[in-house]
Amino acid sequence: MSLKDQIQVDKVPQHVAVIMDGNGRWAKKKGMMRVFGHENGAKAVKEAIEGGSEIGVKFITLYAFSTENWNRPKSEVDKLMQLLVSTLKKELKKLQENNIKLNAIGNIDALPKKARKELLNVIDETKNNSQLTVTLALSYGSREELIKTVKLISDKVKNNIISIENIDESVINNHLYTQNLPDVDLLIRTSGEQRISNFLLWQIAYAELYFTNVLWPDFTKEHMFEAVMNFQNRERRFGKTSEQINK
Ligand code: FPP
Repeated sequence: MSLKDQIQVDKVPQHVAVIMDGNGRWAKKKGMMRVFGHENGAKAVKEAIEGGSEIGVKFITLYAFSTENWNRPKSEVDKLMQLLVSTLKKELKKLQENNIKLNAIGNIDALPKKARKELLNVIDETKNNSQLTVTLALSYGSREELIKTVKLISDKVKNNIISIENIDESVINNHLYTQNLPDVDLLIRTSGEQRISNFLLWQIAYAELYFTNVLWPDFTKEHMFEAVMNFQNRERRFGKTSEQINK
């Protein structure tokens, strides 16, 4: 039986988030420039989306560019932005055919004009699609997101729109970049590193964490199925006992 056939359709994680790591090391191993790793990383993005879509994942959130990534050499940052533009242009048709909605989180205003324009265009073109929502985290940092959230809520308190007593989880959820997304069920990080790197700190509170040594450009649909299978073999207790869960 193939890996995909072993997946239980009623236990597929609703929201999968991915820290796509290892592009640089993958290229270095091949004696190539880092950008070659990113180009092949873009192909792996397609694999992850197709794999997730085939088994019924409803939300995939990809860490494509962190707030810290701006500190990389300008040539690499430029290449990543170019790759974003060319990939968006190339894949719009595929997104439409497969009923996939594109979404973005992060400080989108910090992106170069061309990248922002293309991104907003694809988001607009795909806004009525409903099979799967793919969210790109771009110029994203979780702490920056939390600071922004605190400021937004404080401002509403100051203007008597929200009272302090009424601040709860849902108020915070509704002011994050991820306001339209459910909590993350499964977080995947490739390349053997076992860190969160300022990604979705609030949203992964109850996520299962899955680390694999595969370098991101080598990531295929099968690796997505493997991660989901692993997720399905875990018991999520949300603070309860095993007996309570299995009752
Ligand atoms: C991490 O590998 C990857 C990134 C910082 C960028 C992710 C970008 C892509 C997968 C390609 C483009 C994406 C889209 C959505 C078109 P790294 O460079 O940190 O690798 P290293 O740790 O081995 O150096």
